Amino acid sequence: MVSLTLIDQPKHHSDFKFGFEAKELPIAEPTASQTLVKVQAAAFNHRDLWILRNMYPGIVMGSTLGSDGVGIVVKNGSQSSSFEVGQRVLINPGVNWESDERGPEGDFKILGLLPAIGTFSESLVTESRELVPCPEHLSTAEAAALPLAGLTAYRALFTKGKVKKGDYVLITGIGGGVALFAMQFAVAVGAHVYVSSGSQEKIEQAKALGAEGGINYKDPKCIAELKKMLNGNQISAIIDGAGGPLYTQYPKVMRTGGIIVNYGQTAGVEGVSFTMGHVIKNIDLCGSTMGSRREFQEMVAFVDKHKIKPVVSRVWQGLTNENVAEAIEMMKNHQQFGKVVIEINGSASPQLHKL
Ligand SMILES: NC(=O)c1ccc[n+]([C@@H]2O[C@H](COP(=O)([O-])OP(=O)(O)OC[C@H]3O[C@@H](n4cnc5c(N)ncnc54)[C@H](OP(=O)(O)O)[C@@H]3O)[C@@H](O)[C@H]2O)c1
Repeated sequence: MVSLTLIDQPKHHSDFKFGFEAKELPIAEPTASQTLVKVQAAAFNHRDLWILRNMYPGIVMGSTLGSDGVGIVVKNGSQSSSFEVGQRVLINPGVNWESDERGPEGDFKILGLLPAIGTFSESLVTESRELVPCPEHLSTAEAAALPLAGLTAYRALFTKGKVKKGDYVLITGIGGGVALFAMQFAVAVGAHVYVSSGSQEKIEQAKALGAEGGINYKDPKCIAELKKMLNGNQISAIIDGAGGPLYTQYPKVMRTGGIIVNYGQTAGVEGVSFTMGHVIKNIDLCGSTMGSRREFQEMVAFVDKHKIKPVVSRVWQGLTNENVAEAIEMMKNHQQFGKVVIEINGSASPQLHKL
């Protein structure tokens, strides 16, 4: 079977520290508690860029990349008959986090860095308990787009941000995968959603999906502009994946006791500012990372209930070095609006068909 492997040569992007190569690897057999899944499609996350740039902890050469995937059950281990052979399943991108709201109980791992096997592969073996039946309304690419970004958005918005109907919410960097899910989920519960982006075109796309307004984070006066748009209403939660200089201004548009949830720092790795302006308004600043298995199951049920369709920016057919290089280039240049997906199933190894 072909798998996308992390290598120590930046073959396709000279500005990265590491590279990738589609390589032939043996198919693993599931142990008693595991299931073998034929991957139909996998999606990229910003995490994959951080890994290639050597800006991510725990990098292991030879890892199969990818945290997002949808596939078909091929074979169950002797004690894992919870899924029918042929059933379409989503793969939980996290391992060893059952249900504790505060954070992982165990040694948390994310698919895509060894010892956790990644999804950019014709097949993968995972613990059966990490699989969830895939909602029927999702296409293959939409399903692949959902797991990591959907889970991160769900926890950030609901568990940490406590967003509910009628709340005013700001979601930053709306072109991003997590941000778009956060917006769709917030709209689905009846919140008033405002977004930020570096692109007016993306703000308009977000408005077409239910956002009430948007600001350009590159404009230093954008928070004053947001205040005008809010017309006296105040933000209850900011769901932010960027960090950056606007943090000092956020209290100006937030209600007392508002919550800022930070799940990423794309704008810079030097951290975020928490000032007396936040303290005086009793604002909570929370970090949030992905989510538990329980939150993953809840998120998939939420997507099914509200028939949410993930926003897919572009889909490539086939797990080839050229397709991966193009997809990475698109993300590197922030050209995407939504998720970047590779459909894999078409050329699956003959051995896999025989299993
Ligand atoms: N903690 C976790 O569990 C977790 C999970 C997933 C992701 N993350 C992190 O969250 C971030 C986003 O991940 P992703 O996969 O959704 O990324 P992505 O799809 O690659 O999107 C990144 C987005 O960041 C936005 N951005 C860039 N500079 C910005 C700025 N100065 N202010 C506001 N937004 C800015 C851009 O939005 P526009 O295109 O609209 O300008 C871009 O589309 C990354 O840092 C990632 O590592 C963390």
